[in-house]
Amino acid sequence: MNSPFVLSYERSLLLSQPLRESIIKSIVQSMQLPVSGSGLDIGCGLGDTTFALAEALGSEGRVVGLDAEEEFLQRARCLLQNKFAIKERIAFVQGDAKELPFADKSFDWAFSMDCVGAIPVDQLILLKEVSRVVKHGGRVCLAIWSSQILLPGYPLLEAQLNATSAGIAPFAAGMTPERHIMRASAWFRQAGFTDIRAQTLLSDVCPPLSNEKIAALTDLFTMRWGNCEKEVAPEIWQNYQRLCNPNSDDFILHNPDYYAFFTYSLFSGRVM
Ligand SMILES: C[S@@+](CC[C@H](N)C(=O)[O-])C[C@H]1O[C@@H](n2cnc3c(N)ncnc32)[C@H](O)[C@@H]1O
Repeated sequence: MNSPFVLSYERSLLLSQPLRESIIKSIVQSMQLPVSGSGLDIGCGLGDTTFALAEALGSEGRVVGLDAEEEFLQRARCLLQNKFAIKERIAFVQGDAKELPFADKSFDWAFSMDCVGAIPVDQLILLKEVSRVVKHGGRVCLAIWSSQILLPGYPLLEAQLNATSAGIAPFAAGMTPERHIMRASAWFRQAGFTDIRAQTLLSDVCPPLSNEKIAALTDLFTMRWGNCEKEVAPEIWQNYQRLCNPNSDDFILHNPDYYAFFTYSLFSGRVM
């Protein structure tokens, strides 16, 4: 029996697919993975990233998707059944990123999107564990959602909504600056990696918006700002509802000229 938390998380991951599809491809392309050999996708969720990674490899390239939630992996395995070109080259394994269930030097590279860099666990511990299972010279890449403009025309409102607990997540009030995702290059350096790189990729959201993209963006508004009523002034909350509620006459996604964007930042290093 799936827990309500897992079900709602799974729903959000599914809804976000049309929004993130193209940036996932761009991220994977920018990694220039070795075409053969094997890689690890840590915190693979429903497998969107694992599929994109396998598609970018040659016919000898293999990927293991690892996640803590068996329910997500079951869904990923079902989705994999229809992916004939890659299904023999992917395996999904349940496990914890803090204690990877693999022998030392099992993989040629490792990747993690919105997991290793974003979960509330000491990133140094996580990166040291990841470097244990990657061979000498292999690249480890963390892709992390890093910014967005979702309310064009309302920069002050958007800044106020972003200055709330869920708005600044995965950072949280009280965390040291070193824990902010944009400091990830230092995590790699401290964990003993070499050839450390950082770059940011952007994804545009252009009109006309498909129904799937409207659903994904609406879910994103709710995820980031839907619970912040107690953290903002009443007029900010009213304005949020006026613009972000699909039942409102002023729903921002019904504007035919709606344009937005979001970014993912990529931090990577080579295992020494
Ligand atoms: C935001 S989702 C990202 C999923 C996927 N990487 C993607 O971008 O579509 C984060 C994932 O990390 C997984 N996760 C969280 N903590 C984990 C841990 N300690 N070990 C393994 N997976 C973990 C969650 O179950 C979830 O599937």
